[in-house]
Amino acid sequence: MIELNKKTDRKGKIMLGNFSYKNGTKLYFGNNSLNFLNEELKNYGKNVQLIYGGGSIKKNGIYDSVIEILKAGGKNIIEDSGVMPNPTVEKLYEGVKIARENNVDLLLAVGGGSCIDYAKAVSVSINCKDDPWQKYFIKYEEPDCKIVPVGCVLTMVGTGSEMNGGSVITNHKENLKIGHVFNEDVMPKFSILNPDFTLSLPKKQMVSGIYDAFNHICEQYFSGTDDNTSDYIAEGLMKSLIHSSLVALSDPNNYEARSNIMWSATWALNTLIAKGKSTDWMVHMLGQAVGAYTDATHGLTLSAVSLPYYRLIMPYGLQKFKRFAINVWSVNPDNKTDEEIANEGLIRMEEWMKKLGLTLNIKELGATEDMIEGLIEATFILNGGYKVLTKDDVRKIFKESM
Ligand code: NZQ
Ligand code: ZN
Repeated sequence: MIELNKKTDRKGKIMLGNFSYKNGTKLYFGNNSLNFLNEELKNYGKNVQLIYGGGSIKKNGIYDSVIEILKAGGKNIIEDSGVMPNPTVEKLYEGVKIARENNVDLLLAVGGGSCIDYAKAVSVSINCKDDPWQKYFIKYEEPDCKIVPVGCVLTMVGTGSEMNGGSVITNHKENLKIGHVFNEDVMPKFSILNPDFTLSLPKKQMVSGIYDAFNHICEQYFSGTDDNTSDYIAEGLMKSLIHSSLVALSDPNNYEARSNIMWSATWALNTLIAKGKSTDWMVHMLGQAVGAYTDATHGLTLSAVSLPYYRLIMPYGLQKFKRFAINVWSVNPDNKTDEEIANEGLIRMEEWMKKLGLTLNIKELGATEDMIEGLIEATFILNGGYKVLTKDDVRKIFKESM
């Protein structure tokens, strides 16, 4: 007799369980991809809320190109600019007001993760009767209202927001930065990925995005002890990112490297490699606490806490850290203990992070010793990784990250 719903093998290991997979975001990739915006716009009504940040798209010309396409498509353009890095709850309320007053049919985000996350938060809030911060971010409820569609033109690589349902909002008054991973109904309906659009990124943003994407892969990879296809895909993505990051570092205009970074970052967090995994996400929880206090660049909050965190949990997931060292960092395992191999992997990772010029401590991001107790309070503890952290563990990590 076939036993349905069986998740464990004879040795009691957790195997790939039951899951569904759907990703409804249509991607247009490449240096001609903006040409497809016009076609996509035909699927939506006249009123388009054009969401962008602090003006980088005006300097690099993307704004003019998008406006031209919107006008040619006969759209009413409702401007919603000034989305700050790490979008705030106040800005969310403002965006909802604009959308309601103008009866918008499409939210078009032109920017990085901040603009796209913000667009998603607005999309689920326009027709929501409750306070969106309370409903989606504090109570973590799902939308039960009509969702206004989101489209995206990506200009900054890293978050994966272009092909996922994640939306992270910061509440400075409450010292909280919280992400809600919405289901596929909230994912962008389409995303335009032109690697050329990322060439104007300052180096700091480029490396921050690279590390963000790399860490998204780590967060999913460092969980479980089973043999899982997702981990093999993750290793390939990490190797591609490491390789392309070094090419882009010495030659920032290298289109091949920038396009591989863009493509890897999208696949790093579009739900595929999380399938069959419990997933960790503690680096993000630690980083988000730092972000809530300092408003620092997201990827750098992750790089600043990663090494102390991974060194702390390594003994609990030793075999995976050993595999990471060998398969991702090409550590030669001959005549070495498992600990030595795993350690060498983290040393190589640290060398790579230093080469990229990533921030390796939270002090540089504006954190101070007297913030540590608050940072501990602001850190959500999750249980999908190799160790459920205690408060003392969290304190140790922040102290070592200082
Ligand atoms: O605002 P503008 O002037 O556009 O400048 C931006 C901003 O200052 C600039 N920039 C973007 N594209 C550019 C450019 N500058 C020159 N040339 C370009 N082509 O870069 C700065 C950072 O942009 P931002 O959108 O804030 O960066 P990122 O994409 O890293 O997004 C960060 C936000 O996403 C959240 C983070 O927490 C943070 O709030 N995340 C979202 C996730 C998701 N949706 O799944 C997951 C991530 O882990 C992350 O938490
Ligand atoms: Zn991230």
